[in-house]
Amino acid sequence: MPSITSLDARIVFNSRGSKTIEIDVIADRNFAGRACAPSGASVGKLEAQSFPDNKAEKALAAFNASRKKFIGLDASDTKAVFDALRSIDDTDNYSKIGGSVAYALSIAAVDAAARAQGVPLFKLLKPKGPYRFPFPLGNIIGGGAHAGPGTPDLQEILACPVGAKSVTEALEMNFKLHGEVRKVIESIDGKFTYGRGDEGAWAPNVNNDQALEIAEKAVKNCGYALGRDMALGIDFASSSFWDEKNNVYDYARQGLKRDTGEQIEFANRLMRDYKLAYAEDPVHETDFESMAVLTKKNPRTLVTGDDMLVTNAAMVKKAVKAGACSGAILKVNQAGSLHDALLFAKECTKNNIRIITSHRSGESPDSHISHIAVATGSKMLKTGVLGGERVAKLNELLRMSEYDLIAGMAELSPAT
Ligand code: PGA
Ligand code: ZN
Repeated sequence: MPSITSLDARIVFNSRGSKTIEIDVIADRNFAGRACAPSGASVGKLEAQSFPDNKAEKALAAFNASRKKFIGLDASDTKAVFDALRSIDDTDNYSKIGGSVAYALSIAAVDAAARAQGVPLFKLLKPKGPYRFPFPLGNIIGGGAHAGPGTPDLQEILACPVGAKSVTEALEMNFKLHGEVRKVIESIDGKFTYGRGDEGAWAPNVNNDQALEIAEKAVKNCGYALGRDMALGIDFASSSFWDEKNNVYDYARQGLKRDTGEQIEFANRLMRDYKLAYAEDPVHETDFESMAVLTKKNPRTLVTGDDMLVTNAAMVKKAVKAGACSGAILKVNQAGSLHDALLFAKECTKNNIRIITSHRSGESPDSHISHIAVATGSKMLKTGVLGGERVAKLNELLRMSEYDLIAGMAELSPAT
């Protein structure tokens, strides 16, 4: 058992230039693991809270006050680290010690343990196969909370190279499409600045309908059959434009509002017309009923809960009861610790809800999520297309492909 012999934490900066927590864990005095907590811009109401009182300094102080509790624990035992965290912080959302500490500590611990045991992290987390690669789900056009005025209300239009036979091919397809999207934008807007949002997606001055037309045209220009070689997806992130007071989705940038019925109709239409492989948070985070309608109507699309499920096993149970969601986003920092996220993954698998492991819009160059995606049997890995902190995760998939242990791409059978 690789034992935690020392730990250290510091404040560093994420890809948005915001403060975050990074933690080093040493196992058996020799094996160093390190992890840095990411952060979201569109945050679900029930997510773990990154820092006590929103201050990274307070998270650091809380960690320093209690770090001795982790000395001597088995670094590979995610439950032991979780229990120690819980003995310090009994809140539902890690508001005392900070979700950033729960994230960085629990992942740095397994990072150190994997090094101590001389195995790749995915194998430490899931000792027995089969292992499959997730399809990289890349953000190609950004809007909403990730890009400025004039961009689409929809937060992300995504590419999923469903026809790819290998990780290399999948990445090449996404990079090619991302480049082609820029050309299509330029062809309709001679003043396009090549501006990109927080996750590296193009941030054009177009509305939602135009953005989808651009994506579709780029797929065709690349010579890909839509839905067969290359599928599109959308993260509506619709809680961010849900107007709770007036019960409408306020597409302020496009200048229109939709009530719940119209939103369902709109989402249904996009899933059908663009053969979407993936639709995330098409309705706001508490509307399980409408999510169930969309899930039932669109068996070929992964109708996915992000803000709705917040990587929380109890919310999966709620969704299953309602018949909502065929897909579930897994973001460890929404849950807090890695153990919380693995419980969520177990609940999803048990209920045949497909897992999509995801980055956050504020990221570090860490690449643990690539291993977590493989270990949890994720169908997709949502981690952008361009930008050093995004490519780091994609390149890790390439390194992982050197292990004969992983037998090709995930089965992307239609959701039931
Ligand atoms: P976030 O965006 O990291 O800003 O929450 C990603 C997402 O909504 O999926
Ligand atoms: Zn989302």
